[in-house]
Amino acid sequence: MTETLLHQRFPALKASLPRLRLGSGPTPVRELTHLPTAAGPVWLKDEGAYGDGGWGGNKVRKLEWLLADAVRRDRRTVITVGGLGTNWGLATARYGREHGLDTVLALVDQPVDDHVRAQLDRLRDSGARLYFTRTKIRTVAAAPLLLARYRRACVIPPGGSNAVGALGYVEMALELAEQIRAGALPRPGSIVVPVGSGGTAAGLCLGLELAGLADVTVTAVVVNDTLHLDQHTIHRLARRTATLLTARGADLPALQLSPQRLTVTRAWLGTGYGHPTPAALTALAVAREHENLALEPVYTGKAMAAVLDLTADDKPGTETPVLFLNTNGPR
Ligand SMILES: Cc1ncc(COP(=O)(O)O)c(C=O)c1O
Repeated sequence: MTETLLHQRFPALKASLPRLRLGSGPTPVRELTHLPTAAGPVWLKDEGAYGDGGWGGNKVRKLEWLLADAVRRDRRTVITVGGLGTNWGLATARYGREHGLDTVLALVDQPVDDHVRAQLDRLRDSGARLYFTRTKIRTVAAAPLLLARYRRACVIPPGGSNAVGALGYVEMALELAEQIRAGALPRPGSIVVPVGSGGTAAGLCLGLELAGLADVTVTAVVVNDTLHLDQHTIHRLARRTATLLTARGADLPALQLSPQRLTVTRAWLGTGYGHPTPAALTALAVAREHENLALEPVYTGKAMAAVLDLTADDKPGTETPVLFLNTNGPR
């Protein structure tokens, strides 16, 4: 358990909301100078560098708080949910095991490609117990059985998107503010981030306010049609996270969470979760060829497609510099 920027700011949280250090920051930032954009510069904050062995990214930041909370509550098992190729489930199983926690995964169907097949093999190797619940309804129906079988388990929602998990991106926003202060990047006008279950965007919105960056706009690119994700749900989770911080002893300033500062869009979703879009495939190729940046088609490719469209010309509403958050879906 090490001190975080959040703990430095609110020392009362050190004992009440511990953090297990799984990755190391600050994650690198760089200008994407070779992207074909017409409007202002685009910067990258590369969350792929957070965590080890290529399994880093936004999941690791959430797990730092979620696993610490499970350990604090003396839980032995973590139950969570994901698609068949879930990065989230794999990260939970791997990091959980390292910290003495078993993982139980309920898996719902998603389009199966080579990556998903390989990911399923990794999930089997991870030691997690897998339940193929296939649909959302059957997952909900299976919940009481799983809870009866794994007593004293800690239940974490898909993607780790609850108030505890969102703390990972509150912390990241504080880290970003320090990097801006240190001159590592300019203050962004807007940040583009993919949204699968909302915790990353919610933590980011709250964190930007706490970090004195409340005027930065967030474009939250929804890549998942199986959950209800809109401005209201993301701000609600941000408020819940603030309530958690207050309940655990932090003296928070008054929050705005201004609707003008958060756009939640399904414009780059395509047919649905896990279905590649032509724009995302183009964005993957552009990022690889122009910037040597490896993205994937489910999350970060769709968010990069948004960045390319939003900066293709001077569209009103896209405030530059744009910061692209590579939340990192390992391939
Ligand atoms: C690579 C990547 N980016 C973005 C997300 C979405 O983040 P969130 O679920 O917090 O919205 C995920 C979800 O697991 C992910 O794997």
